[in-house]
Amino acid sequence: WVSAADGRIQGWNWQANDENGFAELMSRNEWVDIDAVGAQGKVNGRGSKVRVKIVTASEEQNEFFFPGFIDTHIHAPQYPNVGLFGSSTLLDWLETYTFPVESRFGSPPDPKTGHQTKTDPKDSPLIAQQIYDQVISRTLSHGTTCASYYATNHVPATNALSYLCHTRGQRAFIGRACMDNPDFCVDYYRDFSADDSIVATRQTIEYIHNLDPEGKLVKPIVTPRFAPSCTRPALQSLGELAASYSPPLHIQTHVSENINELALVQELFSEAGSYAAVYDKYNLLTPRTILAHAVHLSADERTLIRAREAKISHCPASNSALGSGICPVRTLLDEGITVGLGTDISGGYSPSILEAARQACLSSRLLGQSAAWQRDNPRGADQNGPDGREKLSVPESLYLATRGGAAVVDMASDLGGFDMGMLWDVQLVRLGGVKLLEKSPLDGVPGDGSADLVKAGPVGNVDLFGTESWEEKIEKWVWSGDDRNVKAVWVGGRLVHSRG
Ligand code: GUN
Ligand code: FE
Repeated sequence: WVSAADGRIQGWNWQANDENGFAELMSRNEWVDIDAVGAQGKVNGRGSKVRVKIVTASEEQNEFFFPGFIDTHIHAPQYPNVGLFGSSTLLDWLETYTFPVESRFGSPPDPKTGHQTKTDPKDSPLIAQQIYDQVISRTLSHGTTCASYYATNHVPATNALSYLCHTRGQRAFIGRACMDNPDFCVDYYRDFSADDSIVATRQTIEYIHNLDPEGKLVKPIVTPRFAPSCTRPALQSLGELAASYSPPLHIQTHVSENINELALVQELFSEAGSYAAVYDKYNLLTPRTILAHAVHLSADERTLIRAREAKISHCPASNSALGSGICPVRTLLDEGITVGLGTDISGGYSPSILEAARQACLSSRLLGQSAAWQRDNPRGADQNGPDGREKLSVPESLYLATRGGAAVVDMASDLGGFDMGMLWDVQLVRLGGVKLLEKSPLDGVPGDGSADLVKAGPVGNVDLFGTESWEEKIEKWVWSGDDRNVKAVWVGGRLVHSRG
């Protein structure tokens, strides 16, 4: 059961009843442990089991509890652009698609003072409030119980996103995107000084700390958008700002996503030595830092990130969509770096972490097949080729989506599994029925429905045939499932989404 006081797992007794939608659930009290330690090694050396809790008594329904997904990198204001990216790559995509949509979330600062004066969520444009509400609905419906959000640089809209997550019950880190470098940022959408960046960031931090003083659900995250968008004084001050709190605040940014971006960073910060070193110089590489993408890191940068215990958000759908490249996840894991998954909406085209898990599996298979990768990363004959160790398994991808993400947001002891005392951030997945009908399609009109395999009805896109082991059912869920398979979602024991 889940403690009503703090939403944590106290035991398993699902006949216990409360107002949060548990009444109807009957647990079979059966666990399926899926081992994320495959032939390929181990995931970060931590508890490697992805546990599945079987719920329904009847074979026809195939319902199970699964830990809620953690989206470690998502841009909420880019939601209207989901699916819109054409053939662009990162830097032209930012100018063509991204800055225009994000700029609609507020007004530029006062030209006289350079400061934004308003902080009330209600002072944000209605469109911003509505888009943020919809992002929360959509991600919850895909089983995302915790997200690390980038907002825009507008204080009222960033506060509105915080308020909406808190009110609707989605666990969230909320970051106001800092962007004060006039040599990179567009005039219609930027901070007018480093000072303005810091003042406005403090305003969002204070708002969130007032909203949720203990940080039970919503926490601020310091967000230098990425090195090119920030001046040195802004990076310096943001590092100091994060460190000035106790405990220090989380930090998020982008690193080494795209080849042209690397060249730009080299040009803008030639003194730093590497992209990761820019962040390190300003104390932005910490155990609470989430670095998105990390596609083209050098070995030295990986060593630095490992030493600082900064974490990586792997965003495979975005990396493919924008042609950024393939993140070598196995290498990161081998070197002891903590990795989780991100949708990176709208560089990524899907709000689903299940899709991110699927894309993580696919991109890892392609990486091992790349001739250039094989040339530069000789693994030995048995490790290259079709059985190369770059390949991520389905259990590994689910590990990244849950326990990996929990470690990335520095909540590994609270989230990502069903350990006693963890928070009840959970999705109830249903795959649907399996019974064969007696009728043959050869006896009637083929295609008239008499051949429906499944008496209880398949749910969504997942067809089961009654022969699958639980491990195989989970594989089918990852490859063919979607939000239609998410029947209910809880965060901290509170029911926050359900589908009839
Ligand atoms: N780098 C700087 N800003 C962004 C962004 O919004 N999305 C992605 N994918 N990369 C970025
Ligand atoms: Fe991003």
